[in-house]
Amino acid sequence: MDRFSLDGRTALVTGAARGLGRAFAVGLAEAGADLVLVDLPDAPGLPETEAAIRRLGRRTRTYAQDLSRTDELAGLADRIRSDLGGPLHILVNNAGTAALERFNEITPASWQHVMRVNVDAVFFLSQRVAEHMIADGVKGRLITVTSKNALVAEAGLAHYNASKAAAQLLTETLAVELAPHGITANTLAPGMVDTPIDGEFPFDREQFEAAYRERIPLGRYAGPDECVGALLLLASDAGAYLTGTRLVVDGGVLADQMPRMRFMPPYRSTLPRP
Ligand SMILES: NC(=O)c1ccc[n+]([C@@H]2O[C@H](COP(=O)([O-])OP(=O)(O)OC[C@H]3O[C@@H](n4cnc5c(N)ncnc54)[C@H](O)[C@@H]3O)[C@@H](O)[C@H]2O)c1
Repeated sequence: MDRFSLDGRTALVTGAARGLGRAFAVGLAEAGADLVLVDLPDAPGLPETEAAIRRLGRRTRTYAQDLSRTDELAGLADRIRSDLGGPLHILVNNAGTAALERFNEITPASWQHVMRVNVDAVFFLSQRVAEHMIADGVKGRLITVTSKNALVAEAGLAHYNASKAAAQLLTETLAVELAPHGITANTLAPGMVDTPIDGEFPFDREQFEAAYRERIPLGRYAGPDECVGALLLLASDAGAYLTGTRLVVDGGVLADQMPRMRFMPPYRSTLPRP
């Protein structure tokens, strides 16, 4: 399994205080990486993520940064590079934000906030980190966490859907521009994951989730840990020839356009009983 080992590498994960970001940070540490964690200044879960990484015997540093302040991100990347005194090998653009709003309720401020965090921050952090990777001669890995919503629409999320589609294409563009330097850029597109991301639901959350689960061929939301294997593939030598691609981790949702399975009789084997 050496090809999945991240011994001697350092990875930066944004939005590492909870949800997928914490699972990604801990998974990278389990594979041997040291970590740099970035999240909002008041993000309550950061000490827990840090403690989990330290328990694995890996080093970790934390930077409080509101990623929507995109003019500060080049400086953040420079500070991290200088504090590390060595290169960064892996960038996981995981932090993201979503708000459930009908198209006619979305204000310019809400639209811009979603775009700043989900698109602008991904681009400007990747831009500076990639420049450091080139300067350091590192065949680095850029991984952007998008969503199945980068590929199909979902009502109440016009800004979010548009932001994830933009993040997909900007990552593919980076893949092409960075290929001559041996740096890969890919997206990981989760389906429904059990995290706090959507915040307030303006309708019955339990009813919605039960109805949605029926649309998922695997019949359940993913746990954050279930996306970690895909991330390690993209982050490690095992994924050296993967670039410009999207890894969809959605329990089969995008593969199924019809609720036909609900109306078909239960599975019965056509093979003779042994
Ligand atoms: N949960 C899902 O079902 C799901 C599905 C598809 C894609 N995703 C994507 O996965 C990623 C992680 O989502 P999650 O479900 O773990 O969300 P989450 O809300 O649980 O965690 C997001 C983290 O990002 C941080 N963050 C948000 N805005 C920030 C900002 N301006 N500056 C710095 N940090 C900020 C938050 O503090 C939080 O720690 C997001 O990009 C999300 O769009 C999630």
